[in-house]
Amino acid sequence: MSYAIEVENLTVTLNSTVVLDSLSFKLPHPSFLAIMGPNGAGKTTLIRVLLGFLKPVKGKVRVFGIDPVEHPSGVRALAGYLPQKERISFEIPMCVKDVVLMGKLLKKSPPRVPTREDIEAARDALRAVGLEELWNRCFRELSGGQQQRVLLARLLVAEPKIAFLDEPFAGVDVQTQQALTALLHKLVRERKVTIVLVTHDVNPIQEHTDYILLLNRKAIAFGHPTEVITSENLSKMYGAPIKVIQYGQYCYAITGDVHA
Ligand SMILES: Nc1ncnc2c1ncn2[C@@H]1O[C@H](COP(=O)(O)OP(=O)(O)OP(=O)(O)O)[C@@H](O)[C@H]1O
Ligand SMILES: [Mg+2]
Repeated sequence: MSYAIEVENLTVTLNSTVVLDSLSFKLPHPSFLAIMGPNGAGKTTLIRVLLGFLKPVKGKVRVFGIDPVEHPSGVRALAGYLPQKERISFEIPMCVKDVVLMGKLLKKSPPRVPTREDIEAARDALRAVGLEELWNRCFRELSGGQQQRVLLARLLVAEPKIAFLDEPFAGVDVQTQQALTALLHKLVRERKVTIVLVTHDVNPIQEHTDYILLLNRKAIAFGHPTEVITSENLSKMYGAPIKVIQYGQYCYAITGDVHA
């Protein structure tokens, strides 16, 4: 079996605090992984380690067999990354089409002149996130959720082998979240892309994901959604009782006034 990610006994400290503790899991390629956990659980830290921005103090990490500590550029050449709350503030106002095209052009060496195919691919990516009509609009005049979707299109157009999306759905409406999750699912199945998605919302993702990692400094659970999303695991992760009810094939987490 070929693995997109192999993590073995990974420990990371920041300011002498342990933020990831003896974490191990293996993610087959291609697959759709959702990482969930409370604020400060180490989700963003894990992604930064996988991309070679942070060095672990202990453990082994591989992305498609490449060690990101030794060869960060090797990993990054295969990866797309949509950081948490990326704020693009352009001095010069940019059109949506230029933002999306950046995904293609940054992979080329200068002079970075878009070909007809690049422009077509950028249009396709914008269509895939449902925003084709915004092609000529000014990026900074879009709503937060629209900007988020344009940035997703920019990532898609670069055709990564693995995409790390750190809470891409913050500020995106529920309907669009569903559509984008379905789109990511399709990328895994049809284009053999591995998707790593950090999200706080357990309910809309289960039918599309292959694996879920519940993280709170340590791995609380890793496996298939139906095995992982249990009342016991979620309560352990969040430190408060959470009830999970089964409805059809899927489980739903209920918070609030829960009597366990
Ligand atoms: N640059 C840094 N220097 C020191 N500590 C840091 C740094 N970045 C993160 N941390 C700490 O590491 C821990 C994990 O942070 P991380 O950003 O990985 O959490 P997260 O799971 O992504 O949380 P959130 O859901 O809020 O995005 C936190 O306790 C945080 O305070
Ligand atoms: Mg984070």
